[in-house]
Amino acid sequence: MNDHWLDDPAALWPDYRPTPLLDLPALAHRLGVARVLAKAENERPLGNFKALGGLTAGLRALARATGATDPDDLRRRCRQAPPRLLCASDGNHGLAVTAAAQRAQARARVYLPAAVSAARAQRIAALGGEVVRVGGSYDDAVLAARAAAGRGEGLLIADTSDDRDDPVVADVMAGYGLIARELRAQLPTEARDRPSHVFVQAGVGGLAAALADGLHGTLQATARIVVVEPASAACVMRALAAARPVRLPGELATVAEMLSCGLVSSPALAVLARHRAAALTVDEDELLAAPQRLREHGGPASTPSGGAGLAGLWRAAADPALRERHALDAHSVVLLTITEGAAPA
Ligand SMILES: Cc1ncc(COP(=O)(O)O)c(C=O)c1O
Repeated sequence: MNDHWLDDPAALWPDYRPTPLLDLPALAHRLGVARVLAKAENERPLGNFKALGGLTAGLRALARATGATDPDDLRRRCRQAPPRLLCASDGNHGLAVTAAAQRAQARARVYLPAAVSAARAQRIAALGGEVVRVGGSYDDAVLAARAAAGRGEGLLIADTSDDRDDPVVADVMAGYGLIARELRAQLPTEARDRPSHVFVQAGVGGLAAALADGLHGTLQATARIVVVEPASAACVMRALAAARPVRLPGELATVAEMLSCGLVSSPALAVLARHRAAALTVDEDELLAAPQRLREHGGPASTPSGGAGLAGLWRAAADPALRERHALDAHSVVLLTITEGAAPA
């Protein structure tokens, strides 16, 4: 197996098709912008975009570890002595890594912080993943997974790292890059109709970085990347301001469970800083309101995490000072990503 095989999405999903790009005119009208476009990652296999990263990085790691040359060879080698993939997760990344293990007939162990719902843990277990509960926050789960890898218990498939050049995190972000590849074919080609703004939610910042890099040259020349985070877990905003990762203390509790992260991923921070990304925080009531606002204006069913980009746009569009700061006006074309569907709530 080689990277060419893994770069082909049809090899990851035999029934692969791009997720739709929705045009939401009622939302654009409500928010006083020209257009709101929303990439519907709720339609991705497993119901969220994280499938792209964990599956790609998990399979690449297994291929490297076993020396397999193609998918059949990988399954054959994994069957003989099943390697184990290890990861920390708020739910979605663990599901994706477990899917990689299942695809290759390997094993997966997922470290989940206590706050992650039983339903999300159950989805991982149902796919064959071993779930280990960890007291504390997502960042504590990250440390637990890292420690297990250090003890030689498996291959670590992290979606975040303090090493800017971490090859596995690079594979995860490369997997998310498929969203940008699809968008390049789906977005309007006329320069003035291309997005002038990307409002993208962040946990550790991997998705935002993958979009910033992958859409470079496809957006309007003056386009802005605006990273949206819960006020209680704004690790990307903090890191952009300090120009280095800063670990936030506390429980980081938020209704946007998937965004409950206290430490930015260093590779993502480097990319976001390079693209001069801005950051915006939203309150819990804004996050809670986002799924319904999305539904009422023609969008898909989602969660506070999945609709957090809209929560940020809503806040910015409604506040004259923020409109000015982020250069939002009646000509703006805004791209959102609905990062997950409603199912796993
Ligand atoms: C549904 C959803 N949205 C957004 C994110 C944030 O992605 P990142 O941690 O790469 O910033 C996650 C991460 O798990 C997620 O599951």
